[in-house]
Amino acid sequence: MHAALVRELGWTPVGVDLSGGMLRHARGRLPVALADAVRLPVRDNSVPAVISVMVHTDMPAYPAVLREVARVLTPDGLFVHVGVHPCFCGGFAQSWTDKELRDEVGASHWPLPALLNAFGDAGLAVERFSEGGAPLPVVLAVAATTRPGTPRTPRR
Ligand SMILES: C[S@@+](CC[C@H](N)C(=O)[O-])C[C@H]1O[C@@H](n2cnc3c(N)ncnc32)[C@H](O)[C@@H]1O
Repeated sequence: MHAALVRELGWTPVGVDLSGGMLRHARGRLPVALADAVRLPVRDNSVPAVISVMVHTDMPAYPAVLREVARVLTPDGLFVHVGVHPCFCGGFAQSWTDKELRDEVGASHWPLPALLNAFGDAGLAVERFSEGGAPLPVVLAVAATTRPGTPRTPRR
């Protein structure tokens, strides 16, 4: 969906998803790979940037995905997360409990502290935040980097 913009910004996008159907939808616009985001088919320290777009609420293991992102990024790599805002999720907010929405559609809610702490625990240093949507900011974006010396093992 965002491949053209990514190219305009000077990057070369490759799309990764677990779903063959989603990849069929995307592959006219960018090269794609069928893979689990917790086990990316990519060498350590080899990718200059990773973007995660509207996926973390579909990923119960998102902290493990963030660790995988930190593994594949180059030491000065950039990570951009764009996802459902943990605080302002519109109509979702009222039914976001274990017994309602989450059970029905499998969505995972990441409270703001849990989401942001998971970046640091994965060795990603948060640089910028941005919100989008009106009248409520239903999207939260986070830009983070890896830096030489940033711990990449979970903190206790
Ligand atoms: C809401 S869709 C967003 C798709 C796309 N990023 C977009 O913005 O149009 C969430 C996607 O996450 C994918 N997904 C869920 N868990 C995944 C995992 N562990 N690894 C890779 N993709 C996953 C689903 O297959 C689904 O296509």
